[in-house]
Order: sequence, then C-alpha cells, then structure tokens
Amino acid sequence: MDNRSDKTCDLQPATCSDSNQPDTADDSSDPIKKLDIPSLSDKMFSRFSEFVQKELGIKMPEAKKIMLQARLQKRLRKTGITTFEDYYNYVFSPRGREAELASMIDAVTTNKTDFFREPQHFDYLFYTVLPELASRKLRVVPCSQAEIAVSQAQAVSSLSSNTASELRVIPLKVWSAGCASGEEAYTLAMVMSEFAEHYPGFDFSILATDISTSALKKGALGIYNHERIEPIPMPMRKKYLLRSKDQSKELVRIIPELRAAVRFQRLNLMDKLFPIRNTMDIIFFRNVLIYFDRPTQESVLNRICQHLDPDGYMFLGHSETLSGLDVPLIPIITAVYKKSL
Ligand SMILES: C[S@@+](CC[C@H](N)C(=O)[O-])C[C@H]1O[C@@H](n2cnc3c(N)ncnc32)[C@H](O)[C@@H]1O
Repeated sequence: MDNRSDKTCDLQPATCSDSNQPDTADDSSDPIKKLDIPSLSDKMFSRFSEFVQKELGIKMPEAKKIMLQARLQKRLRKTGITTFEDYYNYVFSPRGREAELASMIDAVTTNKTDFFREPQHFDYLFYTVLPELASRKLRVVPCSQAEIAVSQAQAVSSLSSNTASELRVIPLKVWSAGCASGEEAYTLAMVMSEFAEHYPGFDFSILATDISTSALKKGALGIYNHERIEPIPMPMRKKYLLRSKDQSKELVRIIPELRAAVRFQRLNLMDKLFPIRNTMDIIFFRNVLIYFDRPTQESVLNRICQHLDPDGYMFLGHSETLSGLDVPLIPIITAVYKKSL
C-alpha cells in the first residue's frame, strides 16, 4: 500500500471521515430504513458469527447479535440486498468474495484507536526501551565501507583511534499489529523521531498491519480530523502535522517523512504464517487480544512472538492479561513484556 504520495490536505472530506471509529451502529432511528431490512434470525446469526469467529478470531457470542445485526444492516443497505440470507450467499459467492467480503470484514471489526492511547507506554518506550535497544544496536561503521558493521566492543576501541568512522544504530524494527487507522503507528513514529533527535545515527521502520482494508487505507493516507489530534502534545503537532490548506476542512495530515517510515499491510492474525521476514525489536499488540477467546489469544500470541527478537519488547493493552496463557513472555511493567528465552 503506497502511503508516500504527498498531496497536502485539500482532499475530499469523505476520504477522511471517521467511519472506522467505534460503531455505534444506530440506524434504528430511521423508521423507513428499519422497515426495509428484516432482523437477523438465529440461524443467520450463527452462520455469520461462525465465519467471524473462525476466520477473524473475533468472539461473537449471542450477546453481540444486535450489534452484528446493526453493522451488517448497513452493508445490506449499501449493496441493495434485502435479506441476510441473500447477503450471506452473495458475500461467499466468487463475485461477492471479490466485491464485498472486505467491506463485510470492515463492518464487523471495531477499529477504535487514538493517538497516544495509554500514554504511559510511550514514556516507557522513550525513556527506557529506546535507550536500551539503541545502545545495544550501536555500531561504528567505517566510512569507506559503510556496509560493514563491527561489534560494539570494537566500536568503542576504534572510536578513540579511527576518526574515519561514524556511529550508526542498526535500524529498529517495530510492528503495530492490529493498527486500525494508524494512530498508534504514527504515535510510535513521532516518539521515535523525537528520540532520534537526541541520539545521532538512530533510525527505525514501522510495520502497521490490520485485517480491515478501510482502516489501513485511512492509515496510509495519514489524514485525520482535527479533533483526533487532541492527545498529541503541541510541540509534536507543530513538527509532525500539516494543516489543511482549506481552513474550513479541519483536517491535518502526517508529514511525508513520518508517513514514509510507516508501511501499512493487510495481515490476518489468524493466518498460520505471517508474511514477515524480519524479527521485530518492538511489537505493539494492544487492544486486539480482548476480541479473541483464550485459546485464540494463546495461539495468536505464540505466532506473533516468533517474530519478536530474543531481546525484544511486547506491549499489550492495559486491560489485557496473559494469566493462564502459555506464551514466551515475561512481565516487565504493566502490559509490557520481554521475550523469555
Ligand atoms: C481496537 S483496535 C486496536 C487499535 C490499536 N492497536 C490501539 O490499541 O489503539 C483492534 C484492531 O484489531 C483488528 N483485528 C481484529 N481481528 C484481527 C485479525 N484477525 N487480524 C488482524 N487484525 C485484526 C481490528 O480490525 C482493529 O482495527
């Protein structure tokens, strides 16, 4: 997904709507629309919920029936289909798989997120994790053979003797898994850019993945309503955000340098193998586990941990707990873990 095009913010407002924010799913106020679509029968609920649970890992107990009905009703209206049964048959037909399945998945996922959500994590990242990882990855690179990285021990001794060398940090690799519309990934990019200002040679790249294509598109665009940027400290807003040229639009866009540091990619955490070659130094996997049942939590976390460096850090949501799960993680502080060897 290309997020590098650099139009400023005079885009159509529709492109930037917050349609991926928590779905209040309240179309019931429209009596005419309400008449159009029948309610979701128990039989159709179990067919849809089975798909959602099996393919996306998301729990869909009976208690969520009204929510699922409301979310799917929007898709029925959009496609002009009048019964859930017809919609189901369409979604899983060869044509529907191409044309509608992704939108159905968008509708059933909850993409609630924020910039600087659970802010203690970003303080811990800045003051503890980044200094530790950066110094561990510090290398002296001879200027003549920039690609040859020598060990830190060699680095220290050659520092005093070899002036034709420069300090570099092997780029940190960070993964925002279940990134929704990108606010978490861009928060990471801002914090790491701040760190880079104090740590010469520091570099990073961020992979941001999600199952929801509409959320990913929004992330890749990097355009947000002005009200969404409230949690971003003012100095960072000035540095990392561009205002819309058209003042009436109240939109901001992440600066190109930050957008270029984040790569958005569709990835289903339920897949047995993830198309990720590198191991990550830091994984933010926050507020996704809560949607999964315990066996799914365990298997997804174990797969994600395979992509975490032995010295790497895993950040979970504050309301997520690992108790009773057999996963290779040891707690460090609240909702922050390191890989256990
Ligand atoms: C509540 S958001 C969390 C966003 C962000 N991590 C945060 O903490 O603010 C949960 C995200 O998980 C994604 N998700 C749910 N099931 C998934 C799956 N099977 N594979 C990939 N992403 C999934 C949803 O699409 C949604 O965007």
